[in-house]
Amino acid sequence: MKHASKQNEGMAAEGGCGESDFRWMARALELARRGVGLAAPNPVVGCVIVARDGTRDGACVGEGWHEYDRRDHAEIVALREAGECARGAVAYVTLEPCSHTGRTGPCAVALCKAGVGRVVVATVDANPLVAGRGMALLREAGIAVDCAVGEREARQLNEGFARWIGTRRPFVTQKVAMTRDGRIAPRLDAGLPQPFWITSEASRDEVQRMRHASDAVLTGIGTVLADDPLLTDRSGLRRRRRLLRVVLDSQLRLPPDSRLVQSANEDVLVCTVSGDRERMAVLRARGVEVERFEPDHAGRVSIEAVLAHLGEREMLSVMTECGSELNGALLAGGFVDRCTCFVAQSMLGVDAVPAWGGVASEETGARVLRNAEWSASGMDRRGTVLVRDPWARVTEPDGTVD
Ligand SMILES: NC(=O)c1ccc[n+]([C@@H]2O[C@H](COP(=O)([O-])OP(=O)(O)OC[C@H]3O[C@@H](n4cnc5c(N)ncnc54)[C@H](OP(=O)(O)O)[C@@H]3O)[C@@H](O)[C@H]2O)c1
Ligand SMILES: [Zn+2]
Repeated sequence: MKHASKQNEGMAAEGGCGESDFRWMARALELARRGVGLAAPNPVVGCVIVARDGTRDGACVGEGWHEYDRRDHAEIVALREAGECARGAVAYVTLEPCSHTGRTGPCAVALCKAGVGRVVVATVDANPLVAGRGMALLREAGIAVDCAVGEREARQLNEGFARWIGTRRPFVTQKVAMTRDGRIAPRLDAGLPQPFWITSEASRDEVQRMRHASDAVLTGIGTVLADDPLLTDRSGLRRRRRLLRVVLDSQLRLPPDSRLVQSANEDVLVCTVSGDRERMAVLRARGVEVERFEPDHAGRVSIEAVLAHLGEREMLSVMTECGSELNGALLAGGFVDRCTCFVAQSMLGVDAVPAWGGVASEETGARVLRNAEWSASGMDRRGTVLVRDPWARVTEPDGTVD
């Protein structure tokens, strides 16, 4: 197919992107974000098509984003809207167009057939086995391709997908709400109300958005016994699959009258090593799923096994909202991919519960905080650090297919 047409002349050559390219990609990223909560187990993707000739030169003629239930990929939705205007146009796509036939035909081929003149891509595909192939296919058809425009944001949007597609393990975001002196709760005998809100409303709203962006939320039985949390997604935003609420509970201590159990609706999973049939039956009768795992070396539920199980269930992203002990086990055990801390101005004192306890040393958490990027969150500060980059395994393509 030859589409390196006249319309291509006078446009930015490969590697030469202009200000308008970043602007259009920002719009494509905005569209991609509409797929959060709706695209998994597929990636979120946005696409914008900008006309390059005729009366509509320079205008947006097609937009699309991907939702799993609507099947069509972002590029197909945008091409359909653009119709004939796609000929010679520039397509901005937040993820490299696919080159294989899955539930739909390859988008790279659809872009060729539509006769687009140039494709601007934010990031290569996260799947190391196919990364670069979509762009190679476009180039072979004579289409100019530019990559890495808006790459950082595009990759952040698909951290879950990148981790899962390469390892079949979910991306784990550890959320911690703490005081300035690194405490997550007052001492239980301090006489303060439980749960004790540490952070401001703005931070708690952000936590709801983080839950919305996650496929599962994970906690420890210690938190359930102390706070009786609900752990639902109350962001008010649309989601395709219910947020799976997961509790690590080796001895099946989860109280049947807890809010988690009372609100179970095929969305509560208890992970245990216990074989107590009576307790299992009580929980199952209330709609709770109980899964038995092999114990780890300490006789507790193996975090590794739980994450593998969640990956098998196509959970791309897991957010942890645990107490001191499990926070420590997750971080020290190398299970955390991103850590997000909301830090309030208040102090609780050295006797209060530390953010990372159990097997973790003070230094484990301090190291994370030192590397965090900080921003304001209402009255609090929000620090976030990428502990393990799921995109690091994806190599930059050289444009050839081997
Ligand atoms: N500010 C915040 O962000 C925040 C968030 C959550 C909780 N909290 C506070 O944290 C406190 C509770 O802390 P916590 O340490 O008791 O609760 P936790 O860390 O949520 O739960 C700990 C329990 O999880 C179970 N568990 C199962 N498998 C495990 C494994 N592989 N590794 C570690 N633990 C495992 C253990 O009990 P079994 O051995 O019986 O299974 C363990 O005692 C409460 O005061 C709560 O308010 C604060
Ligand atoms: Zn596609």
